Amino acid sequence: MTYSSVIAIDGPSGSGKSTVAKLLAKELGILYIDTGAMFRALGLAAHDADVDLHDHQAVEKFLKEIKLEYGQADALVKVDGKDLSQRIREHHVSKLASIISQIPVVRTMLLDFQRSIAKEKVCVMEGRDIGTIVFPDAFIKFFVTASIDIRAQRRYDQLIEKGQSDIDLEQLIKDVKKRDEKDMGREVAPLVKADDATLVDTSEMDISKVISTLKQDVHARAKEVGI
Ligand code: DC
Repeated sequence: MTYSSVIAIDGPSGSGKSTVAKLLAKELGILYIDTGAMFRALGLAAHDADVDLHDHQAVEKFLKEIKLEYGQADALVKVDGKDLSQRIREHHVSKLASIISQIPVVRTMLLDFQRSIAKEKVCVMEGRDIGTIVFPDAFIKFFVTASIDIRAQRRYDQLIEKGQSDIDLEQLIKDVKKRDEKDMGREVAPLVKADDATLVDTSEMDISKVISTLKQDVHARAKEVGI
Protein backbone atom coordinates (compact mmCIF):
# COMPACT_ATOMS: atom_id res chain seq x y z
CA MET A 1 0.00 0.00 0.00
CA THR A 2 1.27 3.46 -0.82
CA TYR A 3 0.20 6.26 1.42
CA SER A 4 -0.27 9.92 0.61
CA SER A 5 1.67 12.28 2.81
CA VAL A 6 -1.47 13.97 4.09
CA ILE A 7 -2.39 14.24 7.75
CA ALA A 8 -6.19 14.05 7.59
CA ILE A 9 -8.17 15.74 10.35
CA ASP A 10 -11.94 15.41 10.28
CA GLY A 11 -14.66 16.19 12.76
CA PRO A 12 -17.79 18.23 13.43
CA SER A 13 -17.92 22.01 13.79
CA GLY A 14 -16.62 23.44 17.04
CA SER A 15 -14.80 20.24 17.92
CA GLY A 16 -11.53 22.15 18.09
CA LYS A 17 -10.28 20.50 14.94
CA SER A 18 -9.25 23.80 13.32
CA THR A 19 -7.18 24.77 16.34
CA VAL A 20 -5.65 21.30 16.47
CA ALA A 21 -4.97 21.19 12.73
CA LYS A 22 -3.45 24.69 12.62
CA LEU A 23 -1.19 24.13 15.62
CA LEU A 24 -0.12 20.71 14.46
CA ALA A 25 0.82 22.07 11.02
CA LYS A 26 2.72 24.92 12.64
CA GLU A 27 4.64 22.65 15.00
CA LEU A 28 5.51 20.29 12.18
CA GLY A 29 6.38 23.21 9.88
CA ILE A 30 4.07 22.03 7.13
CA LEU A 31 1.15 23.34 5.11
CA TYR A 32 -2.30 23.78 6.68
CA ILE A 33 -5.32 23.40 4.43
CA ASP A 34 -8.78 24.32 5.69
CA THR A 35 -11.34 22.77 3.33
CA GLY A 36 -14.30 24.25 5.24
CA ALA A 37 -13.04 27.67 4.14
CA MET A 38 -13.51 26.58 0.53
CA PHE A 39 -17.15 25.52 1.03
CA ARG A 40 -17.73 28.76 2.93
CA ALA A 41 -16.21 30.86 0.13
CA LEU A 42 -18.29 29.18 -2.55
CA GLY A 43 -21.48 29.49 -0.48
CA LEU A 44 -20.83 33.16 0.22
CA ALA A 45 -19.79 34.04 -3.33
CA ALA A 46 -22.84 32.30 -4.79
CA HIS A 47 -25.07 34.07 -2.28
CA ASP A 48 -23.45 37.44 -3.11
CA ALA A 49 -24.14 36.76 -6.79
CA ASP A 50 -27.81 36.05 -5.98
CA VAL A 51 -27.52 32.41 -7.01
CA ASP A 52 -30.23 30.25 -5.46
CA LEU A 53 -28.24 27.65 -3.47
CA HIS A 54 -31.10 25.17 -3.77
CA ASP A 55 -30.96 25.33 -7.57
CA HIS A 56 -28.21 22.84 -8.36
CA GLN A 57 -28.01 23.77 -12.03
CA ALA A 58 -27.63 27.44 -11.23
CA VAL A 59 -24.86 26.60 -8.74
CA GLU A 60 -23.13 24.42 -11.32
CA LYS A 61 -23.26 27.24 -13.87
CA PHE A 62 -21.88 29.64 -11.27
CA LEU A 63 -18.98 27.29 -10.47
CA LYS A 64 -17.96 27.21 -14.10
CA GLU A 65 -17.77 30.99 -14.20
CA ILE A 66 -15.65 31.65 -11.14
CA LYS A 67 -12.05 31.15 -10.08
CA LEU A 68 -11.35 29.83 -6.61
CA GLU A 69 -7.92 30.39 -5.06
CA TYR A 70 -6.53 29.10 -1.82
CA GLY A 71 -3.48 30.85 -0.41
CA GLN A 72 -1.44 28.29 1.38
CA ALA A 73 0.25 30.79 3.66
CA ASP A 74 -2.64 31.78 5.85
CA ALA A 75 -5.80 29.93 4.85
CA LEU A 76 -6.48 32.81 2.48
CA VAL A 77 -9.43 32.16 0.25
CA LYS A 78 -10.34 34.17 -2.83
CA VAL A 79 -13.12 34.01 -5.40
CA ASP A 80 -12.44 35.90 -8.63
CA GLY A 81 -9.57 37.70 -6.96
CA LYS A 82 -11.71 38.93 -4.06
CA ASP A 83 -10.37 38.02 -0.62
CA LEU A 84 -13.22 36.44 1.36
CA SER A 85 -11.10 35.15 4.26
CA GLN A 86 -12.70 37.45 6.84
CA ARG A 87 -16.30 37.40 5.65
CA ILE A 88 -16.49 33.60 5.48
CA ARG A 89 -16.19 33.51 9.28
CA GLU A 90 -19.47 35.38 9.82
CA HIS A 91 -22.13 33.25 11.48
CA HIS A 92 -24.64 33.31 8.61
CA VAL A 93 -22.02 31.89 6.23
CA SER A 94 -22.03 28.57 8.14
CA LYS A 95 -25.52 27.95 6.86
CA LEU A 96 -24.62 28.87 3.27
CA ALA A 97 -21.62 26.52 3.41
CA SER A 98 -23.71 23.72 4.82
CA ILE A 99 -26.31 24.08 2.05
CA ILE A 100 -23.79 24.27 -0.79
CA SER A 101 -21.79 21.35 0.63
CA GLN A 102 -24.76 19.03 -0.01
CA ILE A 103 -24.51 19.55 -3.78
CA PRO A 104 -22.62 16.71 -5.51
CA VAL A 105 -21.07 18.92 -8.23
CA VAL A 106 -19.67 21.27 -5.58
CA ARG A 107 -18.08 18.35 -3.76
CA THR A 108 -16.59 16.98 -6.98
CA MET A 109 -15.08 20.34 -7.86
CA LEU A 110 -13.59 20.80 -4.40
CA LEU A 111 -12.36 17.21 -4.28
CA ASP A 112 -10.25 17.85 -7.38
CA PHE A 113 -9.15 21.22 -6.05
CA GLN A 114 -8.13 19.77 -2.68
CA ARG A 115 -6.26 16.89 -4.25
CA SER A 116 -4.41 19.23 -6.58
CA ILE A 117 -3.20 21.60 -3.87
CA ALA A 118 -2.03 18.78 -1.62
CA LYS A 119 -0.32 16.86 -4.39
CA GLU A 120 3.10 15.62 -3.37
CA LYS A 121 3.21 17.99 -0.45
CA VAL A 122 3.18 17.07 3.19
CA CYS A 123 0.24 18.86 4.74
CA VAL A 124 -2.42 18.87 7.40
CA MET A 125 -5.80 18.92 5.68
CA GLU A 126 -8.85 19.61 7.76
CA GLY A 127 -12.51 18.94 6.89
CA ARG A 128 -15.33 16.42 7.12
CA ASP A 129 -14.43 13.81 4.51
CA ILE A 130 -10.66 14.07 4.18
CA GLY A 131 -9.84 10.65 5.64
CA THR A 132 -12.80 8.94 4.01
CA ILE A 133 -13.15 10.44 0.51
CA VAL A 134 -10.49 13.01 -0.38
CA PHE A 135 -7.45 11.12 0.90
CA PRO A 136 -8.53 7.63 1.96
CA ASP A 137 -4.84 6.73 1.60
CA ALA A 138 -3.67 9.44 4.06
CA PHE A 139 -0.89 7.92 6.12
CA ILE A 140 -2.49 9.13 9.33
CA LYS A 141 -6.03 10.21 10.19
CA PHE A 142 -7.57 11.84 13.22
CA PHE A 143 -11.24 12.31 14.00
CA VAL A 144 -11.54 15.23 16.41
CA THR A 145 -14.73 15.67 18.38
CA ALA A 146 -16.24 17.15 21.58
CA SER A 147 -19.67 17.18 23.25
CA ILE A 148 -22.40 19.30 21.62
CA ASP A 149 -22.65 21.70 24.60
CA ILE A 150 -18.92 22.33 24.63
CA ARG A 151 -18.83 22.83 20.88
CA ALA A 152 -21.68 25.36 21.01
CA GLN A 153 -20.01 27.19 23.89
CA ARG A 154 -16.75 27.40 21.94
CA ARG A 155 -18.56 28.79 18.90
CA TYR A 156 -20.32 31.30 21.18
CA ASP A 157 -16.99 32.46 22.66
CA GLN A 158 -15.48 32.80 19.18
CA LEU A 159 -18.37 34.91 17.89
CA ILE A 160 -18.37 37.15 20.97
CA GLU A 161 -14.63 37.61 20.58
CA LYS A 162 -15.22 38.69 17.00
CA GLY A 163 -17.60 41.37 18.24
CA GLN A 164 -20.94 39.73 17.42
CA SER A 165 -23.10 40.51 20.46
CA ASP A 166 -26.49 39.23 19.30
CA ILE A 167 -25.75 35.52 19.82
CA ASP A 168 -28.11 33.28 21.78
CA LEU A 169 -26.37 30.22 23.25
CA GLU A 170 -29.52 28.06 23.31
CA GLN A 171 -30.08 28.84 19.64
CA LEU A 172 -26.45 28.04 18.93
CA ILE A 173 -26.83 24.59 20.56
CA LYS A 174 -29.81 23.96 18.28
CA ASP A 175 -27.80 25.18 15.25
CA VAL A 176 -24.90 22.87 16.09
CA LYS A 177 -27.26 19.89 16.40
CA LYS A 178 -28.98 20.74 13.14
CA ARG A 179 -25.68 21.15 11.33
CA ASP A 180 -24.44 17.80 12.68
CA GLU A 181 -27.56 16.09 11.42
CA LYS A 182 -27.10 17.67 8.01
CA ASP A 183 -23.36 16.91 7.81
CA MET A 184 -23.80 13.33 9.02
CA GLY A 185 -27.01 12.59 7.18
CA ARG A 186 -26.20 13.90 3.70
CA GLU A 187 -26.00 11.42 0.86
CA VAL A 188 -22.68 12.55 -0.56
CA ALA A 189 -19.56 12.33 1.60
CA PRO A 190 -21.28 12.41 5.00
CA LEU A 191 -19.29 13.28 8.10
CA VAL A 192 -18.18 9.93 9.46
CA LYS A 193 -15.10 8.66 11.23
CA ALA A 194 -12.86 6.61 8.94
CA ASP A 195 -12.33 3.11 10.35
CA ASP A 196 -8.61 3.73 10.58
CA ALA A 197 -8.85 7.22 12.11
CA THR A 198 -7.81 7.84 15.72
CA LEU A 199 -10.60 9.36 17.79
CA VAL A 200 -9.58 12.50 19.69
CA ASP A 201 -12.16 13.88 22.15
CA THR A 202 -11.18 17.43 23.09
CA SER A 203 -14.07 18.06 25.56
CA GLU A 204 -11.85 17.82 28.61
CA MET A 205 -8.43 18.11 27.02
CA ASP A 206 -5.66 20.59 27.36
CA ILE A 207 -4.79 21.67 23.81
CA SER A 208 -1.03 21.52 24.26
CA LYS A 209 -1.35 17.91 25.45
CA VAL A 210 -3.49 17.06 22.43
CA ILE A 211 -0.88 18.54 20.08
CA SER A 212 2.08 16.79 21.66
CA THR A 213 0.25 13.43 21.57
CA LEU A 214 -0.71 13.89 17.91
CA LYS A 215 2.82 14.97 17.01
CA GLN A 216 4.23 11.82 18.53
CA ASP A 217 1.67 9.72 16.66
CA VAL A 218 2.53 11.46 13.39
CA HIS A 219 6.28 10.88 13.80
CA ALA A 220 5.82 7.25 14.78
CA ARG A 221 3.46 6.57 11.89
CA ALA A 222 5.64 8.43 9.36
CA LYS A 223 8.56 6.23 10.35
CA GLU A 224 6.42 3.11 10.15
CA VAL A 225 5.26 3.79 6.59
CA GLY A 226 8.50 5.40 5.43
CA ILE A 227 7.30 8.94 4.74
O1 DC B 1 -15.52 23.41 9.09
P1 DC B 1 -16.48 24.52 8.70
O2 DC B 1 -17.48 24.82 9.77
O3 DC B 1 -15.77 25.75 8.23
O4 DC B 1 -17.28 23.94 7.43
C1 DC B 1 -18.29 24.67 6.81
C2 DC B 1 -19.30 23.73 6.16
O5 DC B 1 -18.67 23.04 5.07
C3 DC B 1 -19.91 22.66 7.08
O6 DC B 1 -21.31 22.69 7.01
C4 DC B 1 -19.45 21.36 6.52
C5 DC B 1 -18.94 21.66 5.15
N1 DC B 1 -17.72 20.92 4.85
C6 DC B 1 -17.84 19.75 4.17
O7 DC B 1 -18.95 19.34 3.85
N2 DC B 1 -16.72 19.05 3.84
C7 DC B 1 -15.50 19.48 4.19
N3 DC B 1 -14.42 18.76 3.84
C8 DC B 1 -15.36 20.68 4.92
C9 DC B 1 -16.50 21.38 5.25
